[in-house]
Amino acid sequence: MTDGRSVVERLTLEEKASLVSGAGFWATAEVARAGVPAAVLTDGPHGVRMQRAGSDHLGLADSMPATSFPTAAALGSSWDESLLREVGEALAVEARALGVDVLLGPGVNMKRSPLCGRNFEYFAEDPLLAGAMAAGWVAGLQSRGVGASVKHFAANNQETDRMRVSAEVDERTLREIYLPAFEHVVREARPATIMCSYNRINGVYASQNPWLLTTLLREEWGFDGYVVSDWGAVHDPVAALRSGLDLEMPGTGGRSAATIVEAVRAGELSEDILDTAVARLLDTHDRVRLPREGEAPAPDFDAHHALARRVAAECAVLLKNDGGLLPLDPDTGGRIAVLGEFARTPRYQGAGSSQINPTRVDDALTAIRAATSREVTFAPGFRLDGTADEALLAQAVEAARGAAVVLMFLGEPSEAESEGFDRDDLDLPAVQLQMIEAVSEVNPSVAVVLSNGGVVLTGPLTDRAAALLEMWLPGQAGGSATADLLFGHAAPAGRLAETVPHRLCDTPAHVNWPGSAGQVHYGERLYIGYRWYDRTEGDVAFPFGFGLSYTTFAYSELSVHVPDPTRPEARVEVTVTNTGAREGADVVQVYVSDPVADVDRPVRELRGFRKVRLAPGESARVVIELDARAFSYWSTRHGRWVAEPGEYGVHVGPSSRDLPLEQRIHLDLAMPPTPLAADSTLAEWLAHTRGQELIQEIFAKLSGEGSSFLTDPASQPLVAQIPLATLLSMGAARDGQGSPSIDDLLRKANS
Ligand code: BGC
Repeated sequence: MTDGRSVVERLTLEEKASLVSGAGFWATAEVARAGVPAAVLTDGPHGVRMQRAGSDHLGLADSMPATSFPTAAALGSSWDESLLREVGEALAVEARALGVDVLLGPGVNMKRSPLCGRNFEYFAEDPLLAGAMAAGWVAGLQSRGVGASVKHFAANNQETDRMRVSAEVDERTLREIYLPAFEHVVREARPATIMCSYNRINGVYASQNPWLLTTLLREEWGFDGYVVSDWGAVHDPVAALRSGLDLEMPGTGGRSAATIVEAVRAGELSEDILDTAVARLLDTHDRVRLPREGEAPAPDFDAHHALARRVAAECAVLLKNDGGLLPLDPDTGGRIAVLGEFARTPRYQGAGSSQINPTRVDDALTAIRAATSREVTFAPGFRLDGTADEALLAQAVEAARGAAVVLMFLGEPSEAESEGFDRDDLDLPAVQLQMIEAVSEVNPSVAVVLSNGGVVLTGPLTDRAAALLEMWLPGQAGGSATADLLFGHAAPAGRLAETVPHRLCDTPAHVNWPGSAGQVHYGERLYIGYRWYDRTEGDVAFPFGFGLSYTTFAYSELSVHVPDPTRPEARVEVTVTNTGAREGADVVQVYVSDPVADVDRPVRELRGFRKVRLAPGESARVVIELDARAFSYWSTRHGRWVAEPGEYGVHVGPSSRDLPLEQRIHLDLAMPPTPLAADSTLAEWLAHTRGQELIQEIFAKLSGEGSSFLTDPASQPLVAQIPLATLLSMGAARDGQGSPSIDDLLRKANS
């Protein structure tokens, strides 16, 4: 590896400035004279979108064929980091073959509202799950010589006004909900790049936010790659560089470079800042290329298609399966009616920058016909554009009549959800609901297969269907994966990474969505997803973490071992047994509660999980380690993570609402002293070791009637909540004497 700094020394100011904004849409500049090659960055994240001719960041121009893997909405539901790693490795092979150095993904933003048009590109409503999934993906990708770009940093949780809206969000909420997935990937997987988002955070554009890009990302988390802007997110290239942005994309035809050169010449931008950014770029591209050996191997598209098929099945969430309707016997049982246009025209990926030109696409209808010797009839039932068609509907009802089972393919049409805009509601189109209503009148054996990026309201489906299989947007092999699941060649192994609500108005961000006048207030604070439904004791259609299998599991023998109660660490062990007759996978989930705390805390939070695959009758002892973060909250008073002493609950089970095992543990932790501030109350001063000494000194000096309310124990509960500064100035007003200066006291107390 060359040392970026030594290369930088050989570059002119103009050359350096040319390197920190792109050379066109998808590449950085090269400086042939100094041996600096260009680097290619392209989307991402569910396949490689290498555009052939024409460039845009919304997937409008044609691109080279590549495998379309399941989208993040599906991948997040796998709860399986190693599976994500496999996907990352395959993506890297395809990326390398097309000459790509950095693949733009994964997206780790939280699903704050189910309305976000881009939720299909995000993993989860929980930061621990999203971070783990992303770390697997990044590790896989980078192990094969392609860099990742973890996006969109940060608080980009809606598409409405995304280019400028200010996410108004308090620091604790950022630290506990919107940042940890990024933090985890940075610390665990060392991504080559981070992509800053378009939006502002508390008024400051992410692209020129020094706290975000430098203090937090580099100084606290130790990020050592480079920060690239989202496409077009830079407003002031000099302010962006100063804040910690290293690469502006796409290029601006030399305009930004000229501005930067001018700023350096005018002494407005230190050349050292520019040098640092260039060195980071060069060092990172070098590091990315390190695992490469020889020529890029030619992708085995058949193998990748098979992988996409296996992964799609792993991510599917079986939400309902009354009477064990699924899986179907491939050879006996009578006629199967396949209904719904999506069976032959699959919806398998989302629109926008992640849109892939797939190498091939499997439709479920063909795959079902190939998988069974039973008679299969098909009727499309509805038009994808949502216009009513009575003849199609009648034909579907006829096909359903007398069939042994109805497989009904429903979902969100592609116009309903995309990058660039948010959804208006969570309802399936009326024509689809009409179909299930009419069909279920003539045949109760209905299994619905769903394709959608963000959750849809399932009430109208569960009222009418015996089985419900959520496939998400499952990638190009989704059709054959569906057939694998329907006939039991694969078992559904996904668990919800996002709560399915009963109604849109139940959702956490409802009254704060999508904001107005350029601002969106994250008024629900920490309480997104299950944190909200648990705190408000709200009923949900399907809870976070939920998913059925073709078998059943039992949990027993929970043991939570705390090796040293003065440290916030514990080891959770539990036995899981496959109590059914088929092989299957379950996700053991560990939630921690802190029932008595100084601050409001979510009822329970996911702090660990493990996917286990078990044969019928087989048991496994699952071990999950909990670290300090599992017990901590972000204390704004302390400016750090704090785990309070006291009791915690450790809850274990197969979903956020099904936690059959619980153990209480006690941690004898030392609470870090609360730094005293100008507005600290007398009680806070008395709870602080040095503060208490100083107060006692003051009390000792006080004499006379006027001050007795301070020293008299009887009056202390009354005055305890009054800021010391106020008490001192009141005392001074009454006694006509000067009082000790609060600034002096603070200096002494906090030193
Ligand atoms: C999207 C990014 C994408 C970039 C390049 C932007 O509009 O927000 O996710 O990577 O375009 O296509």
